[in-house]
Parts: sequence; C-alpha cells; structure tokens
Amino acid sequence: RKGRLSPGDIRARKGVEPVVCLTAYTTPMAQLVDAHCDVALVGDSVGMVLHGLPSTLGVTMEMMILHGKAVARGSSRACIVVDMPFGSYEEGPEQAFRNAARLMAETGCQAVKLEGGRHMAETVAFLVARGIPVMGHVGLTPQSVNTLGGYKVQGRSHHEADRILVDAGTLADAGAFAVVLEKLPAALGRRITQEIAVPTIGIGAGVDCDGQVLVIDDMLGLFSEFRPKFVKRYAELGASAEAGIAAYADEVRARAFPGPEHVFGEGNPE
Ligand code: KIV
Ligand code: NA
Repeated sequence: RKGRLSPGDIRARKGVEPVVCLTAYTTPMAQLVDAHCDVALVGDSVGMVLHGLPSTLGVTMEMMILHGKAVARGSSRACIVVDMPFGSYEEGPEQAFRNAARLMAETGCQAVKLEGGRHMAETVAFLVARGIPVMGHVGLTPQSVNTLGGYKVQGRSHHEADRILVDAGTLADAGAFAVVLEKLPAALGRRITQEIAVPTIGIGAGVDCDGQVLVIDDMLGLFSEFRPKFVKRYAELGASAEAGIAAYADEVRARAFPGPEHVFGEGNPE
C-alpha cells in the first residue's frame, strides 16, 4: 500500500476489518507502530508517561505539536491522530477550530481527537465541515477526572449506559470518523459498536469494539505507575532497561567498562 491511511479509510473499516491503534510520541516508536498499526495516536497520555505529570490536565498545545511532529517524521502509512489538550477546545467551535487547525498545520497529522459526548457534537460538526477530521472519545474521559471523581469504569448503571450510547451516536451523527470507548463494561462496548455507524476503538471496552487502542508505554511495560486491568503487557521493556542500567553501573564502578574493544589506541581500528 502506498501513502497514508486516511480517516475515511478508517471509517470504512466498520464491519470489515479491525482497526489497530497504538499511541506513539517519538520518532523511533512511531517507526515501529507504523509498520504494524493503522492509527498512530499522539495521545495526551504523553504528559503522564513521558513528562511525569500527575494527570493529562497539564498537557499543552506546544507538547502535542512537538510530539506530533516527531511521530509524523517516523511514519508514512499510519493515520496520525493528535489529541487536543485540555483547555484547547472546550470553549466553543471557534476556539476548537483555531487550535485543531494549528495542530494539523504544524504536525501534518490527518485528524484530531477530543473528549466529550453530546456537548461536543456542535464542535465536531464545525471542525468536520471546515476540513478537520475528528475522532471522538467517550466513557472514561481522563481530562474530566475531577468531575468524574476518579478513573472508574463508566456506564455501569442503565441510565449511564444509555447516556454514553447517545453520546457516541451523537458524535457519529455529527461527523466523527471513529469514537474511542474507554473503560466501559464489555456489554456496553458491544451495544455501542452495534448501534453507531462509525468504528468504535476500545480501550478497556471489550473485544467486540471495531478496533483497539492501548498506551504504548503501558503495553510494552515501560510505564508502571498504575496498571489498569485492561492493559495487557506484551513486553517488559522497563525491566529490561533496569537490568541494562544496573549492569552498566556495576561495570563502571568495577572499571570493567569500557573494555579493550570499546577504546581507541595503538593498533585499534575505528
Ligand atoms: O491519550 C491517550 O493515550 C488516549 C488513548 C488511551 C485513547 O486518549
Ligand atoms: Na487522550
């Protein structure tokens, strides 16, 4: 396949083929994600996993632009979606357009993602009508951690489940090309997937979603501050890095590194 997957290509996967998505924040990780995934999401989770912030609330436009550019440089096939950070879109459609256009122009991403249900529908329609593809995000929306009261499973009651279903459907009707479903009971993930017209991308929302996404540092074992139940560890890079760093420190203290093969001198080739 030549060229990048477009938001329209992702939209057309509904009922055809699963959408494979991972987050990416840097060029080398983007290269790995690009080889195997359909969507590279430059998530505002970057603030927590790479910058040590306590939540996603402190993430800025500048951070998203820097990481979005790095991911664009490291990819050629994946559809790049960049998260709109907290405070960059909630005031209204004009503010959202101004910041989304800046994200697209400066990073070269194909789409933006924003959090929220029916109250964001007008903004989604406004952006889509003006050339900015939008991915929605409902259920657990981490930018609302303070009003949600924590990172709990959402949609457990019938009333809440119905509300989240309407939120997802309203975003699809407003023109979102896909909707992330975060931390919902699997039965609700299935129900929303059956009822809305665009792909659902699940994270902790069950196996019946149209696609899946994980935070790459979580699934590779690089970020271990919290370990949500929905994260499957596909590698243990943190443990591997720890062992490598410890071995290096021991060898430097013992003057065992550098060895003869690592030094320059008489008769040593470059
Ligand atoms: O910021 C992020 O990584 C996300 C995904 C987990 C959906 O929004
Ligand atoms: Na996010």
